[in-house]
This record gives sequence, C-alpha cells and structure tokens, in this order.
Amino acid sequence: IAGTIRPRETAWWRGQREHLLHLAQAGTPRYVYNLATVRARARALAAIRPIDQRYYAIKANSHPAILELLEQEGFGLECVSHGELKHVFNVLPTLSPRRVLFTPSFAPRTEYEAAFALGVTVTVDNVEALQRWPDLFRNRELWLRVDLGRGEGHHAKVRTGGKDSKFGLPIARVDEFVRLAEDLGSRVVGLHAHLGSGVETAQHWRLMCDELAGFARRIGSVETIDIGGGLPIPYSDDDEPFDLDAWAAGLAEVKAVHPAFRLAIEPGRYLVAESGVLLTTATQVVEKDGIRRVGLDAGMNTLMRPALYDAWHDIENLSRLGGYAEALFDVVGPICESSDVFGKRRRLPVSTAPDDVMLIADAGAYGYVMANTYNQRELPREDIIDDVP
Ligand code: LLP
Repeated sequence: IAGTIRPRETAWWRGQREHLLHLAQAGTPRYVYNLATVRARARALAAIRPIDQRYYAIKANSHPAILELLEQEGFGLECVSHGELKHVFNVLPTLSPRRVLFTPSFAPRTEYEAAFALGVTVTVDNVEALQRWPDLFRNRELWLRVDLGRGEGHHAKVRTGGKDSKFGLPIARVDEFVRLAEDLGSRVVGLHAHLGSGVETAQHWRLMCDELAGFARRIGSVETIDIGGGLPIPYSDDDEPFDLDAWAAGLAEVKAVHPAFRLAIEPGRYLVAESGVLLTTATQVVEKDGIRRVGLDAGMNTLMRPALYDAWHDIENLSRLGGYAEALFDVVGPICESSDVFGKRRRLPVSTAPDDVMLIADAGAYGYVMANTYNQRELPREDIIDDVP
C-alpha cells in the first residue's frame, strides 16, 4: 500500500550503523542481536490475555543473553534435545524444571531418561515409544503431540503435519495412546500440535486451538493445550507484518468456549528473527556474462536459510547505506557449491567493492544455530547489543 512504512525502513539497525561498522572491525562474519527487539516482541506476546503460558523454542537462537532475557520476561523454554536441556540449565542454573518443555522427535531412550531425571515436562508423539519403553513412561504426567492431518508454513521443509510428516500422533490413534498411558499409570495432561513454521494466516491457530480443545475434552485428563510456534515475521517488502491482534482475537474466542484449559504457545522465530543481523565483508566483485556478483566472507555454512528454503533476507551494503546509485548484483558466499547464494538480482550500490561491510537482515532466528563448518570454514561470532529506543 502506497505510503505504508515498511519494516525495512524502520529496522533498528539503521540507527546503529556506526556501532555495527565498529563491531565488524573485530572480524566477520558475525551475528549481532539487539536485545531491545527481543524484549519488545516478548512483551507484545505477554500482553495477549488468552495465553496462559509462553515458552520460547530455543532452537531458533540459544544465545545465553537471549535465554536470560526471555526467562526474565516470564517465558518458559522449549527444548528438543538433551543438548538443549543441558544448555538451558547451564545458562539458568536456578530455572525451575516446571518451566521447561522437552519436545523431541525420534529421540533415543537416554534423552527421555535425562529429561525425566531433570523433571521437565516431556511430550511424546507416538505409541511405539510407550510400547518399547513401558518402564520409562510409567507413572508420569505426559504431554501428547498430535498430527492434525495437515502441515503449514513458509516452505515444504518446515511443515510438520500430514501423512508425509514424521511428527505427531495421528488423531485416529489418540484413544490407543491414552489407554496405553493409563495402563502404565500415566496421564495425558497436555495436548500439543505444531503444524509448521512461518504460518501467515492468523486464523490457523484459532482453528487448531478449537480442534485440540475438542480432543482434550474427549481425553478428559488434559489441563494444557499447546498450539506450538510458527508465528511469521515480514522478511521482505512483500510480506505483511503478522496481525497479532487478529491472532489474539481468534484465540480469545476459542478460550471463551473452552475456558477450562490453560493455553500455551512456543514461538521461536517471532521473538528473535528481527533482532539479529549478520555482518559480513565483501571479498570480491566479479562480472561474468553480464551478471555482477558480490562475494561475501559468509556463506551457506554461516546462514543456511536461503540455500535450504530459498528464504529471502534483505541485504544491504552497510558501508554505503542510502543515497547511492544502484545496480543489480547476485550475492554469493565462498562455499564450493552452487546453492551458496544469498540473493539474486539484488539492488545494491553500484560502487559496492571489496572490504565493504554487508548486512543480512532478520537473521536472528535459525541463523547461528544452523551454522556449520562445511569446507572447513570457521563458525561465525556473536555479539549482543541492547539498543533501548
Ligand atoms: N515448537 C515446535 C515443536 C517446533 O518444531 C518449532 C520449530 C517451534 C515450536 C518454533 O517454531 P517457530 O515459532 O520458530 O516457527 N529452520 C527453519 C525453521 C524450522 C522450525 C522447526 N521447528 C527456518 O529457518 O525457517
């Protein structure tokens, strides 16, 4: 819509250019997270009345400063591996295990053992685990993750529901699961679904919540309904900012019909994506067959999302921000693989040159945590700033 202020014009990092250029001098590639953004997103979610419990999916970004902040803002933490559980209790030694969820997928027995020993809430999403390890699941209060028969999200690779998905117990087997749990002296006290990541329709959660509430009533012992994460953020000018009010209104309607259940969410991306930028330095500018390319010292090993999901991230030349004549560039990394591309035909200053500091925006979620050392490249570094507006 003409005249609308787009997120990229108001991004926090525009006001932090000098500071970011200074940080980049200590070496790139480096991720920089602004805690003020995380705090603002956390408070926006905390203000949503129908939600009783909030968990942060730490897989999105497990930097200690972010975990500390979100814990202080009242968030519990959702973990998917023993490694994440250990990390959380290392960073927050006094954290009550009651504020931690363990939501693994195809985990080995040892990870469930560790989670029960820690006293965190364990979610199970198949009957076979109970059949195989009855001793482990005896006399427990369990959460059950179901598959509502469909997946949602920004890319096929992040949809977590439906026949082709490895996640969740099909609804048709819920009764069987509940009976088996009861035979073991256990109770299903939580009902959980997460159908995917980067879901744009606010009504998705309302529908899900309604369905889960229906199943929860049938089960009888359920106290908490967890509608997962999946809240999107606007990565490009074409994306509308998520309508948090419409989302909240939908949840309030369901809550009014089913007031008996505590309602939980476990977002990752929404809380941290916009807080993070990836600073990287241009290595070479090359023209080949009419295509101009700028190469970076960050690659698909530093930020996998473009290579893995064709994900869009805004890219700016921080050394030459604003007012420069522009040309189209492909932005690529140093990895020996053709998928090592951050963006094609991107508008950047025509004068873009080696040693310029480039910024890849909205990289606070699923950035550093997915980085790897492919081609024997080093992991990026991380910095925290707290730019209170
Ligand atoms: N809960 C469960 C059970 C999940 O599997 C996930 C994410 C979340 C919560 C948090 O979802 P979020 O609010 O962040 O959408 N690497 C991909 C995203 C993978 C998400 C995996 N599960 C990406 O970069 O887009």
